[in-house]
Amino acid sequence: MNYQTLLNNAVNKLKSNSIINPGLDSELLLSKVLHTTREKLLLNLAKKTTSQEKKKFDLVIEKRSRKKPLAYILGNKEFWKTNFVVNDSVLIPRPDTEILVEEALNHIKVDRQYQILDIGTGSGCILISVLKDRKKSKGIGIDISKNAIHNAKTNAKIQQLENRIKFIHSDIDKFYSNKYDLILSNPPYISKLNLRFLSEDIRNYEPVLALDGGYDGYSKIINVIEKSSKLIKIKGKLILEIGFGQLNKSMKVLRQNGFYINKVSKDLAGINRCIISTKIWIMRNYKNNHRRSRFRHNGDRNFRRNGSHHKLNSDFSNGSDFKRKNPGKNNQNASKLIEKYTELAREALSNGDKILSENYLQHADHFSRISEQQNGNKIIEKNTDKKVEDFSKSESSTEKDLSNLV
Ligand SMILES: C[S@@+](CC[C@H](N)C(=O)[O-])C[C@H]1O[C@@H](n2cnc3c(N)ncnc32)[C@H](O)[C@@H]1O
Repeated sequence: MNYQTLLNNAVNKLKSNSIINPGLDSELLLSKVLHTTREKLLLNLAKKTTSQEKKKFDLVIEKRSRKKPLAYILGNKEFWKTNFVVNDSVLIPRPDTEILVEEALNHIKVDRQYQILDIGTGSGCILISVLKDRKKSKGIGIDISKNAIHNAKTNAKIQQLENRIKFIHSDIDKFYSNKYDLILSNPPYISKLNLRFLSEDIRNYEPVLALDGGYDGYSKIINVIEKSSKLIKIKGKLILEIGFGQLNKSMKVLRQNGFYINKVSKDLAGINRCIISTKIWIMRNYKNNHRRSRFRHNGDRNFRRNGSHHKLNSDFSNGSDFKRKNPGKNNQNASKLIEKYTELAREALSNGDKILSENYLQHADHFSRISEQQNGNKIIEKNTDKKVEDFSKSESSTEKDLSNLV
């Protein structure tokens, strides 16, 4: 029997088992058995096969006809610009996920060193693809599956990235680490109910850990967002893959965790697939900190609460150490600066630059603290509070406007 006849028989068997690309699959599987390329095989179709080759080929065709994914039989899958080693402990890298890589590369400057975290790294395909193109950056990939981490390490070794990449076996809930400039994640996002409607090749062969997103499909997405909010630097980016119909709730959770939505990218089928967001310094912190610091410095109110008011209050009013040396000094400057920075924040926000706006607000906060420490001037506090409140109102409407655009 020659290779052509062997292939014809395989195609018939795969067709009768409803395999979608029987011709291509048969050629790729025979090339693997013969340790050759598909191109070379096609140039030698008239060549006679040995009985051992036939036996091996029949075995892999049998596996494929039982719907085992081609990538698991071949042991590799092309993703972005690299051929990744895969086994059945990792999700087979999907073309949709290449959008996440593309967006990550758009945000990493070639000449800067970024610290990147990949949550639920699987085969390591996302992180490895990014680090291969951004040679100054470094990354950590974590996964709850020990076998997945082993697979990812193999890929890092093949791609000679071991000095810039670390793969750690860890549950996201138990991972504590430094702050990252960029967090990438393609979490499991299929609802338990929908798992059983997946095609047979996915349902029976891909790891359930990589697919199962809990009862409503959001449990891992929410997990990743909440944890990222703690692991990311202010102004750091979170690039998150989501499933069909998961955009609105995911954006809501992102906002609740202090992320500003920069962009939503669609996949080739036009489905919202990837959310790019920035961790911002949120207004709530500004207001809370501001109030807290006011309270801290208001000895009178503070001490009255614990019943030591009289004694301590008299210490404050009589002790010369507590008296200001230059009462009134810098009041005017601080007041003007608070006003100036609040105004700049408002202007930046109206130009759509929320990060710059948050930055200006931090400056305003800084000067309001200085002002309080120097003279406890209630008028400045009142004014600042009013400004913050006004700003807060305008911010929520602008954020609504911006979110409507997405
Ligand atoms: C959808 S797969 C993504 C794999 C790979 N990043 C990719 O895009 O091809 C999700 C991965 O998250 C991992 N995972 C699930 N729960 C996790 C958890 N609690 N902590 C860390 N990783 C988890 C799974 O083992 C799986 O490898």
